[in-house]
Amino acid sequence: MIPVPCEVWEGFIFVNFAAEPQQILGPMILGLDGYPFGKFTERWFYRAEIQSNWKIFSDATQEFYHAPVLHARQSPAAFSGPAQQAGFEGPHYRVDGYHRLVTTGGIRPWALPEEMVKPTEKALRSGLFGAWDPYDLGVEKLPAALNPAEVEPWGNQSFQLWPNLVFLFWTQGFFYVYHYWPTSYRSHVYEGTRSSLTWKRPPRTGAYRRRRSDTPGGWPAPCRSCRPSMTLSSPASRKRWCSATSMGWTTCPRRC
Ligand SMILES: [Fe+2]
Repeated sequence: MIPVPCEVWEGFIFVNFAAEPQQILGPMILGLDGYPFGKFTERWFYRAEIQSNWKIFSDATQEFYHAPVLHARQSPAAFSGPAQQAGFEGPHYRVDGYHRLVTTGGIRPWALPEEMVKPTEKALRSGLFGAWDPYDLGVEKLPAALNPAEVEPWGNQSFQLWPNLVFLFWTQGFFYVYHYWPTSYRSHVYEGTRSSLTWKRPPRTGAYRRRRSDTPGGWPAPCRSCRPSMTLSSPASRKRWCSATSMGWTTCPRRC
């Protein structure tokens, strides 16, 4: 076994084959100290062989100007039209040594008029920006490195660490780690992991109800057909459960 220099930061192991590697994690990245990386309980992994130069691909995934135009068909016209008109403006960029970051604003889909939200998003209470009910990370305040421009609502923030590592944090309380491994000048392996907490039924506290009151029309009680099904226990009858009650929600987004 040949020893190689390595260093651990927030549970991530950085390996460097140089005989005397220099310290490259600067203050911009170290400002993430205290993010509860160790508390995440779920990790989803994907891997793809991409027929593209790794740097071009990496730069493209870190460019958000395209979103209102290229992603227009992911939203109802009532949303994508005005979004396209507005365009994209990055509220915060930063370069620190070899590394860089970009922040985006976000949206509150639950507060949008009904015609701006896809029916699937409404049914699943989840969309492009993640689950509508955020994960509780159990921290009073996120590290200052996240959302430094204090954008409200905040969407996500992408830290691009030289040369091939990305941390992408989302406002709803989950994060991605990307790696780009070149296999030739025109191909690479793209690996991504998504870390999140196991979803739990949100507590029915006053604060939670107040937040839900952002929802147009508020949160009605479970519909008549769902309410009795909450007491059914056989597998056959469970199939008849409304998606809302089977997932532990207190209301029926389908209004069935
Ligand atoms: Fe995109």
